[in-house]
Amino acid sequence: MTRTYVTTPIYYVNAEPHLGHAYTTIVGDAITRWSRLLGNDTKYVTGTDEHGLKIQQAADAAGLTPQQFTDEIAPKFAAAWERLNIANDDFIRTTEPRHKAAVAELLQRCYDAGDIELDTFAGKYCVACEEYYSDDELVILDGVEDCCPVHARPVQYFEEENYFFRLSRFQDRLLDWYAKHPTALRPEHRGNEALGLIRGGLRDFSVSRTSLEWGIPLPWDPKHVTYVWFDALTNYLAAVGFGSDDQDYRDWWPATHLIGKDIVRQHCVYWPAMLMSAGVEPPKRWAIGGWLLVGGEKMSKTSGNVVNPLDLIDDIGLDGFRYYVLAETPYGSDGDFTYEGLVGRYNSDLANNLGNLAARVATVVAKKCGGVGTAPSPDSPLAAAATTAYTDAAASWDDLQPSRALDATWGLIRATNAHLEQNEPWKAEPGPAVDAVMGDALEALRIVAILCSPAIPDTAQAVWERIGMSGQVADQRLPDAATWGGYEAGPTVTKGDPLFPRITL
Ligand code: ME8
Ligand code: MG
Repeated sequence: MTRTYVTTPIYYVNAEPHLGHAYTTIVGDAITRWSRLLGNDTKYVTGTDEHGLKIQQAADAAGLTPQQFTDEIAPKFAAAWERLNIANDDFIRTTEPRHKAAVAELLQRCYDAGDIELDTFAGKYCVACEEYYSDDELVILDGVEDCCPVHARPVQYFEEENYFFRLSRFQDRLLDWYAKHPTALRPEHRGNEALGLIRGGLRDFSVSRTSLEWGIPLPWDPKHVTYVWFDALTNYLAAVGFGSDDQDYRDWWPATHLIGKDIVRQHCVYWPAMLMSAGVEPPKRWAIGGWLLVGGEKMSKTSGNVVNPLDLIDDIGLDGFRYYVLAETPYGSDGDFTYEGLVGRYNSDLANNLGNLAARVATVVAKKCGGVGTAPSPDSPLAAAATTAYTDAAASWDDLQPSRALDATWGLIRATNAHLEQNEPWKAEPGPAVDAVMGDALEALRIVAILCSPAIPDTAQAVWERIGMSGQVADQRLPDAATWGGYEAGPTVTKGDPLFPRITL
C-alpha cells in the first residue's frame, strides 16, 4: 500500500482565515482527493500555529489570555475548512499535548547531537514574520529604515541570551541531499530560490527566548521558551505521532509539504537541517506556491487587504470558488485575484463548458433516447481524448499542478462538446446512430466526473447521479475507472437544475 502524507502550513491565529489560506488548503485538498482515487492510503493534515510573540500581541490587543484568544480563533479555521469541503484527516493545534511532546523530543535530539548551544543574540526581528533579518536583507520604505521586506514594517531590535541551532554546519549536507533528490522541490523555479538561500551561506538561528512566556519550555532549560518556528515546524511530525506514537510516525513519514513562497527559508532550509540533526529523514517533497495578490499586493492579515473566501462562496458557489482557485493560477506562480477574473473563469469553464455539456446531454437523451442512458461505442473518437485526459491529468496531479490537471480534464469536455456539435444528435431521428453518440457523451461525462472530483467534489457527484451512476464518485479507483467503456446502457438520466447558472457582472 502506498502511503501519502500531505500537510498545509499551520496558519497563525492572529486573525481569521482569508483567501490566501483557503488557496493553499484547497490545493492540498484536491491533491489528496486525487491520491485517494488512486487507492493510496492518504493522510491530509492542516492546523493552527498558536505560540509566539505575534499571537501574544494579538491576544493582548483583544484583552484575552493567549490561550483564550487561540481557543476562540482556531475553531474559525476548522469551520472555514468544513465550509470549503476540505477533507482533512486531522487538525493540529500547537497548544495540544501531542504537539508539545513532539517539540520536546525533537529539541532534545538536536541538543543531544550537539547542534543546539547557548549564545548571545543581538539583532533585528520582524514580529509579523516571527523571523530574524540581517541588515542587508532589510529595506528602506518611505524614508523609514530597517523595514521587513515581506511585511513592509519596521523590525524590532532584540538582545538576549538564546539557544542557537547551528544551521551553519548544515550547508554541505543540505546541498548534497537536494542534489540526490532533484525533484523534491516543486515547481523547479521556486526550488531554485530555496537552493540559492542555502548556497548564499547559512547563519545559526536562535531557537529560544527568555523575554517571552507564550511558548513551549525547553526541556533542559525551562527559563527559555521555544522559538515559534522551531515549535511550528514540528507539527508535521507531531500529527503522525512523533514523540508519542512511534509506529504511526514511521508509517507516515516523510511528508509532502504545501507551503507559500513566503516560508521557504524555514521549510526548505531550517526544517530539513533540524531533521538531519535529530536523525529523522527530510520531507519527501515541498510544493511551493506563489502568492495571491490583490491589486498587485500580497493579501495578508498583517497588511489588512484580505478577501474573505466565505463571502465569495455566497456569490459564486462552493465549487465555482474551488475551481477558480485551482484552475486560474499555475501552482508556484503569483496570481492576481479579481472579481472579474473569478466570474470570467466560472462562466467560460463551468457554465459554458461543463454545465452546458451536462445539460445538453440530458436534454437530448430525454428527447431522443426516452431518458435512458445508452452504451458508448468502443471505437468512439472520444476514447482517445479520454485516455489523453486521464494520462495528462494524472501526470499533472502527481507533479502537484492542479491547473494543468484541470486543463487536461477540460480537454475531454471540449472534445465531447465538439463531438456533439459535429454529429448534431438533436437534429437526427432516434435510432442506433443517435444512441451511440449519446452513449459516447455519457461515457465521457462519467470519466469527467471522476477526473474533476478532486477539484469540485459536489458537482462531480451531481454529474455522476444525473447520468444514472450509483454510489459515490469518490469511491472509484483509478486508473481502471477511467478506462473507456465503463458506462452501461439502461440507467435513467436526469437533467436537474443548471449546475452552474451564468453570472452577469
Ligand atoms: O506563515 N497568497 O502562517 P500564515 C497565497 N504560521 N497564499 C497565502 C497568502 C496569499 N496572499 N497568504 C497566506 C505562517 N498564504 C506560519 C506557518 S508552518 C510550520 C507555520 C498561505 O498564517 C501560504 O501557504 O502567515 C503561506 O505560506 C501561508 O498561508 C502562511 O500562513
Ligand atoms: Mg504570514
